[in-house]
Amino acid sequence: TERTLVLVKPDGVRHRQIGEVLRRIEAKGYDIVALQQLVPTAELLEKHYEEHVGKPFYGSLVEFMMSGPVVAAVAEGEQVIAAFRSLAGATDPIKAAPGSIRGDLARDWGTKVQQNVVHGSDSPESAEREIGLWFPAL
Ligand code: GTP
Ligand code: MG
Repeated sequence: TERTLVLVKPDGVRHRQIGEVLRRIEAKGYDIVALQQLVPTAELLEKHYEEHVGKPFYGSLVEFMMSGPVVAAVAEGEQVIAAFRSLAGATDPIKAAPGSIRGDLARDWGTKVQQNVVHGSDSPESAEREIGLWFPAL
């Protein structure tokens, strides 16, 4: 059985969408096995987004992610990594299909692609790496 790291980003928390995101994960049959709310540090985000360091959007992405509280969760179940990516929808909220979290809930897309409500790990390796960063005790 797999685990994945889910983040409700600052836009999702600001718009009171924490419950809706967690509800969709549970409705799909997955377990929330760890949960916390925090304002991430630049140091944590630099590790979390290491693949994006140096890209043109990196600075504004980190600034956005530190702009308010984030909810971090570990979801567990069969093929949860791919399943949550599917629940989340395309990265760009304009392209994310209706019915997906980003397609239904993203509301700040007019200005920034990065304000797309959630993050989900993209592979078993990134999931374990990211869970270790956000939940060192797990
Ligand atoms: P995550 O689940 O958040 O990792 O999204 P993803 O895997 O669909 O996208 P990716 O890992 O490529 O990018 C990580 C995050 O950076 C995205 O979720 C966006 O918030 C942001 N991002 C990606 N591409 C762009 C871009 O071209 N411009 C801006 N401003 N932000 C971007
Ligand atoms: Mg990603």
